[in-house]
Amino acid sequence: MTLSQSLQNDTASLQEEKPVLRIWGRSSLKGNVSISGAKNSALVLMTGALLASDACQLRNIPDLADIESMGKILSALGVKLQRNNDGLTIDASHIAKTEAPYELVSQLRASFFALGPLLARTGVAKMPLPGGCAIGARPVELHVRGLQKMGAEVYIEHGIVNAFARRLKGAHIYLDYPSVGATETLMMAAALAEGQTILENAAQEPEVIDLADFCNAMGARIQGAGSTTIVIDGVPKLHGVDYTIIPDRIEAGTFLVAGAITQSEITVSNVVPEHLFAAIAKLKDIGVGVVQEDRNVLRVVPGMLYHGTDIETLPYPGFPTDMQALFMSLLTLCEGNSVITETVFENRLGHVPELIRMGAHIKVKGNHAVIRGVPFLSGAPVSGTDLRASAALVVAALAAEGQTTISGLQYLDRGYENIEAKLRGLGARVERIQGQSSPALVGVS
Ligand code: EPZ
Repeated sequence: MTLSQSLQNDTASLQEEKPVLRIWGRSSLKGNVSISGAKNSALVLMTGALLASDACQLRNIPDLADIESMGKILSALGVKLQRNNDGLTIDASHIAKTEAPYELVSQLRASFFALGPLLARTGVAKMPLPGGCAIGARPVELHVRGLQKMGAEVYIEHGIVNAFARRLKGAHIYLDYPSVGATETLMMAAALAEGQTILENAAQEPEVIDLADFCNAMGARIQGAGSTTIVIDGVPKLHGVDYTIIPDRIEAGTFLVAGAITQSEITVSNVVPEHLFAAIAKLKDIGVGVVQEDRNVLRVVPGMLYHGTDIETLPYPGFPTDMQALFMSLLTLCEGNSVITETVFENRLGHVPELIRMGAHIKVKGNHAVIRGVPFLSGAPVSGTDLRASAALVVAALAAEGQTTISGLQYLDRGYENIEAKLRGLGARVERIQGQSSPALVGVS
């Protein structure tokens, strides 16, 4: 085979058919967009349903790839699931298996949240280590150490976390870091433990409160969720419940930024404004008006001139790391300099090179990104490296001159329900092109 033939073959195999999102820029948006249920509530509440001895009905569950994956994992444990109009019926009255398959867990880190409830409910749990992802190593030692403090025997062998406990015992646990997942794992495990558990330095995210409210509706006795100290008095059994989850604050923030970056006055409905306090404060610093129109409706009022600001991501109620990439897109078009410091994950700046391809001026030093505003971005073929990086490219493309083609939609579809339909509903020109050659390779052959 000649060199050019082998190159042709290599290129052909690289240009595998992958869908892309094509966005025509300089969109001006109008109208209203309604926010879906929170992905990061839905995922953990699905594992929380393992605690109940009969069926739970979860409502306002978004239709996302991650929800699909979690459903497969629960089914693999013998749990019965049924999708209905706006939610899920989860019947964990009989748990047939206590080991989740690696090929499913490796696709969804959040499946590791099943460890705590599975152990608390059955006394045995074998969960493959979730492994890292694009944004960081994502260790789980805080989950494991907390369960050990509650009397579980936990050891890791061949990449599997094996946990055993006849009955977990309440304990006083200090979390070295206010980890959302570790707080949720330990809160669920403690709900069925013997005695009282106190979690110090707990995560305060709204999704933690949603999980506590869900567990309490099932008969758990959890106090203090939303503060740094959570007290759980274990009970012998939990019953099923019909529960509606909170709206997705990160999706809400995504559309607030979409309105701001396109200088469009839009409304975002079905939100909880107090979940967005940090994001709204930063939008106002930049010069974007955000008006509460109704209990669950916010209106974006674009300003004439946006100026840069500094952002440091922190555990809630600090600025959410999941909105860092989105705000970086907006800051690339703000007058002056801005500094973003990512303190939560060690590798969550993957969107920077892609924004630079669109004409942004960004310099990265360690976990700091220094952004100098430019007058405009220009459309280009770009690729999402993780869920929120992909969303950041979408909002940048809405503002850019010309056309942008975004690949890496497998990330975007994990966290945004019907994003094209929602953007088109606001007047954006967006289309998903199935089976498009990977844009970055166009012209290689
Ligand atoms: C949850 O992840 C969210 N995912 C993430 O959303 C979110 O970014 C994150 O919380 C922070 O808010 C879900 O809820 C499914 P952490 P989680 O444990 O629980 C370190 C998205 O885009 N850490 O609070 O995994 C960890 O490495 C996703 O929707 C340990 O060191 O986050 C990280 O640096 C991305 N040891 C920091 O804590 C541990 O045992 C925060 O992680 C656990 C965590």
